[in-house]
Amino acid sequence: MSGVPHLLVVEDEAPMRRLLIATVVREGWRATGVESGDEATALLDSDTWDLCLLDLHLPGQVDGMALLDRLQRRQVPALVITGYASIDSVVAAMRAGAADYLAKPVEPEEVVVRCRRVLAQHQITEENRRLHHALDERLRFEQLIGDSPVMVALRRRLERLLDVDTTCLIVGETGTGKELVARTLHFAGGRAGAPFLPLDCGVYTEELFGDCLFGHLPGAFTGAVQGRAGLFEEAGAGTVFLDEVQNLTPPMQARFLRLLEERTVQRLGGGPVREVRARVVAAANEDLAAAVEAGGFRADLYFRLNVVRVDLPPLRARRADILPLARHFLAAHASRLGRPPLALTGEVVHRLESYGWPGNVRELANLLERATILGDLGEVAAGMAEAAVPEPVASESAPLLALVELEQRAIAAALARCNGNKQEAARLLGIDPTTLRRKVHRYRGGPT
Ligand SMILES: Nc1ncnc2c1ncn2[C@@H]1O[C@H](COP(=O)(O)OP(=O)(O)OP(=O)(O)O)[C@@H](O)[C@H]1O
Ligand SMILES: [Mg+2]
Repeated sequence: MSGVPHLLVVEDEAPMRRLLIATVVREGWRATGVESGDEATALLDSDTWDLCLLDLHLPGQVDGMALLDRLQRRQVPALVITGYASIDSVVAAMRAGAADYLAKPVEPEEVVVRCRRVLAQHQITEENRRLHHALDERLRFEQLIGDSPVMVALRRRLERLLDVDTTCLIVGETGTGKELVARTLHFAGGRAGAPFLPLDCGVYTEELFGDCLFGHLPGAFTGAVQGRAGLFEEAGAGTVFLDEVQNLTPPMQARFLRLLEERTVQRLGGGPVREVRARVVAAANEDLAAAVEAGGFRADLYFRLNVVRVDLPPLRARRADILPLARHFLAAHASRLGRPPLALTGEVVHRLESYGWPGNVRELANLLERATILGDLGEVAAGMAEAAVPEPVASESAPLLALVELEQRAIAAALARCNGNKQEAARLLGIDPTTLRRKVHRYRGGPT
């Protein structure tokens, strides 16, 4: 509802209709009155209605119950007014989705009170619907893309982990999707209604880390004018995501371990001791195991976090994911920028698939975003550091190759790389398989 509520008043008795309209208008709301279901139906799509005051007993083709059904389908709440103290008709109307009812004769004050209540309820319902919708959208966008055996197994594993309470450790290089996995565990599971709170372990001093975990009461220390809830208090039954957990200093590790063991938190300065209900999901890079070996990270904390471990291999170890991810990002960036998605040529796909991707999925996403902004995928892909397709070099000293010879070489190289599979080689070269077959035939001396 935006601004002043607009009410549709459907009542065949003129004095009653005038009374209802006057009552509503006195509240500062807008009202439109009609005397039949047919007239109301004609108006339904002409405006956005916040509420319908509906007399169940109406003349014409469309009676009160039929109109109620139409209102329901447009998500317009109805406050039913019934002339006969007929329990049956009221029950039927409430069953059919009426928000509330009033029996004649009606008191103007009562009409206003009921209308307010229905409007407020409806607003909450609408908000809920929007939130759910936003969440769906978000999950759809953040879906874990990839068809490699690794990703298929990962999705299956995550499904089993969704609604268990165990601590989870997600390990992988930068940009492999650790946070995305943590979010998926949260938003696709039973904790989605509660907050997902990330905590970057690399940016806090020890003092601030404590304040962040536990919060404080007003006056707990100099400058603490207002109180603040700690992360676990705020998260409730949600998820606390400890990112870059290998960056915790030994005193922070000790503090956090105690929290995990006692499963309680209390604000700095006192107050109630609260039970920790949130799930802890931590992310680390490969350095964590080394830090445990070297004694920089407590083994006991490591084992506590590592109850369930999810490994995210680097993108270069699951090249089958590159093409689906590229398609996904091209479509996502294009729709965000309001442009048609760039087309992938065989040449570009080959470059993407043979590059090393030290920045993993994030690097791929960024590259494709740059390409979408520039509107040129070929140029961006050609600039990649370790582009794997050897370019025929034409320097001044090198003899210039005839175009035909260049083409022959490219075809031979592509066929060699694809073990003679023409379909694949054509894709690599970015040409039609029929064209490739014709060219091969010609170069081998066949008639054109
Ligand atoms: N399998 C995937 N499907 C779709 N998008 C992905 C996938 N993996 C990663 N991404 C996207 O790649 C980007 C990097 O992922 P994310 O931030 O989760 O990585 P990270 O491992 O937490 O990186 P860092 O260690 O640098 O914090 C994000 O935009 C994420 O949505
Ligand atoms: Mg991250």
